Amino acid sequence: MRTIEWDHASCQVKMIDQRLLPGELRILRLNTPGEIEHAIRTMAVRGAPAIGAAAAFGLALAGYRSDARSPTEWKAELLAAAEKLQTSRPTAVNLSWGLQRVLRSLDGAPGTIDELRRVVLQEAQKLADEDVEINRRMAMHGSELLKDGDTVIHHCNTGALATVDWGTALGVIRMTHEQGKRIHVLVDETRPRLQGARLTAWELQQYGISFDVISDNAAGHFLQRGAVQCVLFGGDRMAANGDVANKIGSYMLALAANDNQVPVYSVVPTSTIDLNLAHGGLIPIEERPPEEVLGLQVDSQPVFPSGVSARNPAFDVTPARLLSGIITEAGVLRPPYEPALRNAVMACQPRNQHRGNL
Ligand code: MRU
Repeated sequence: MRTIEWDHASCQVKMIDQRLLPGELRILRLNTPGEIEHAIRTMAVRGAPAIGAAAAFGLALAGYRSDARSPTEWKAELLAAAEKLQTSRPTAVNLSWGLQRVLRSLDGAPGTIDELRRVVLQEAQKLADEDVEINRRMAMHGSELLKDGDTVIHHCNTGALATVDWGTALGVIRMTHEQGKRIHVLVDETRPRLQGARLTAWELQQYGISFDVISDNAAGHFLQRGAVQCVLFGGDRMAANGDVANKIGSYMLALAANDNQVPVYSVVPTSTIDLNLAHGGLIPIEERPPEEVLGLQVDSQPVFPSGVSARNPAFDVTPARLLSGIITEAGVLRPPYEPALRNAVMACQPRNQHRGNL
């Protein structure tokens, strides 16, 4: 199944519970926008495009569960649900992008509540289907950059699980493998939530792609030894100048790669590009609970002395100057990024190029 999908028979959203992987593959069935908000907040669903699709389907649920008596009341309920969903995670711009896209589908849509419900569901479904298609296109563009025998460092999880299906950076790796090129992946385990160790390793095993998990702090060593030909990661929000917020640790990885002249690519659909923000310093960075850092155990023993505090920023910003290119569905963009990103967004999302928050 897809990471997230609408179940027409029950009018529910089905999603893989990513908190339980790789130990258990459990499918959640969600009934309300509140349940979707909780799933995003607690990271049952995570990854920028998957969050965008979840939010869009959350609005469809709001529409179906509403017992409003007039279209005006119904639309007000939908807007309230969107405002609530918007607060679930702050960094990935795909969240507000998905919400706005669905809300915009109602512009000028006449009709009964039943007809409006169908409009919203159709738009959410279209967004989800397009996500898969866009990821395949990015994978095709990106695969041209990788050669037979290459070793790639990959950060976090950017695969099918982080999207509706297929993936962004991991999609590039998967496509390259499917083209018959031999490729080896060094999988950053990705402290503190271990998306690399838990999710990327799980996906790569299923695709039959050769890999080794490495601790995040081993990446510099492999880059310095000349063992790596390319660094690939995704993005949660890219500013107009190409600075990109991605999973914490991406910045250090990009620095080490640049010091060793290894190319670094961020793989982002145009839905992740926020032209309203001039540079990465303006991107809101989510700070998650310290327990995610402090929960680590070694030999069944807690690692940290009791009473210590921790900081847990979930993302960092890699400056555009450290990127060798940006892989989008419009192709591989090269510097200067500002006009290239603007053109890509205009070409791929002519209705969405000037969006802000809700
Ligand atoms: O905190 P997460 O797991 O939602 O973070 C995910 C990432 O940082 C991914 O690299 C990003 O969403 C892009 S991949 C589709």
